[in-house]
Amino acid sequence: MSDADFVVVANRLPVDRVVGPDGGEEWRTSPGGLVAALEPMMRSARGAWVGWPGQPDVELDPFEINGIDLVPVPLSAEEVADYYEGFANDTIWPLYHDVIAPPQYHREWWEAYVKVNRRFAEAAAAVAAPNGTVWVHDYQLQLVPQMIRELRSDVTIGYFHHIPFPAHGLYAQLPWRDQVLRGLLGADVIGFQRAQDATYFLTAVRRRLRHDVKGSAVTIPTDDGGTRTAVARAFPISIDTAPYLELAARPDVRARAAEIRESLGNPKKILLGVDRLDYTKGIRHRIKAYGELLEDGQLSVEDVTFVQVASPSRERVDAYVHLRDEIELAVGRINGDHDTMGHTAIRYLHQGYPREEMVALYLAADVMLVTALRDGMNLVAKEYVATRADNRGVLVLSEFTGAADELRQAVRVNPHDIAGLKDAIMTAVSMTPSEQGKRMRSLRRRVLENDVNAWSSSFLRALDEVRKR
Ligand code: G6P
Repeated sequence: MSDADFVVVANRLPVDRVVGPDGGEEWRTSPGGLVAALEPMMRSARGAWVGWPGQPDVELDPFEINGIDLVPVPLSAEEVADYYEGFANDTIWPLYHDVIAPPQYHREWWEAYVKVNRRFAEAAAAVAAPNGTVWVHDYQLQLVPQMIRELRSDVTIGYFHHIPFPAHGLYAQLPWRDQVLRGLLGADVIGFQRAQDATYFLTAVRRRLRHDVKGSAVTIPTDDGGTRTAVARAFPISIDTAPYLELAARPDVRARAAEIRESLGNPKKILLGVDRLDYTKGIRHRIKAYGELLEDGQLSVEDVTFVQVASPSRERVDAYVHLRDEIELAVGRINGDHDTMGHTAIRYLHQGYPREEMVALYLAADVMLVTALRDGMNLVAKEYVATRADNRGVLVLSEFTGAADELRQAVRVNPHDIAGLKDAIMTAVSMTPSEQGKRMRSLRRRVLENDVNAWSSSFLRALDEVRKR
């Protein structure tokens, strides 16, 4: 089956397993922005998506959903532990997010990472049509570009890195730092979220591998004594704005937003945080600042409620287990101290919700708090902005997110600075409607013009230029 002109390779397939009431199982596409951006392209070209179905020991034959061929890559329970929970999410994830949590370096995890990356590369090499295009995604698969090149020198290879790339002083900790750089350099175009990420990568390439770097181009010596060029630069990702605009305009969703306000006791202001429960997101810092504002008497639970949606994530990794305990302790303390019979300080929800409910929440929220300590982009910030067609609401945004490069009219914060974070929350809570409108209009222009389709087109254009050379 080597006939796919366009192959996406990502750790996860864009599907969820749904088990019916009769116990029968079915796979449904999960509504991610990446799928939405690539779907039209994958249907017009012959497209295939290579990825893990998300559960251990699931062996599935390739299948088709909505005109896309899905090619499942199986992982054993041990590989899930060593490659996914271990090397990807307990070595690379914390290291690349500026060691907010200490990265663990284990040789068995690295071996599993190499082995699983090879399996993904072999699956991609087997389905790609002659002279086709393969687009590899994210930190779980950094060795795949070079592995595919070795198997299929005819295909054009792109790689996009969805998370930050660290400064050289941190990157240098990685015992396998040179192998990872060589893996990434197998791609013709290596995309990052921010200009800074690309610069850090290029510095590592120059310092570790001594390759010649000019602007965004790296000259790589090849086995036959010649050279080839790879390009590394920023392509900031965005969201598929259409479904957010549609949902925000729907009467039932708007009614649901009013119902949410009502059920929280109609506070004057609703603050909102929406994150995967991850130590990179600065949820503790946000809770601390808010708790102090209640303590100081600058805010009162009669007037303000903070809703924190923290969706469960990577629940078998220790750092996540500890984080959950810490957050739930902090939430319990603050609520215990400040709740009244009719009002709660923090409505904490350790659950995931469908997009409709999230849009209703965005519409109900007067202030959106994005206080990540480090984040490749942060799409929640863009989702909030997209839904606010009423030009109301305030986005408080950490300068350590990729989104901060673009969303200049947000209230910017350094989440490590709790006093500054408290000031930012007070600024947001007391902002006049006209100031909100001025800022939100500018934020919306930016998000609506640079949506996920603009992102994927510009990346694929860059790949095309390489192909023509
Ligand atoms: C981040 C990563 C993605 C990852 C997602 C969810 O956004 O960049 O690659 O898929 O988190 O994490 P999970 O471990 O559940 O796939």
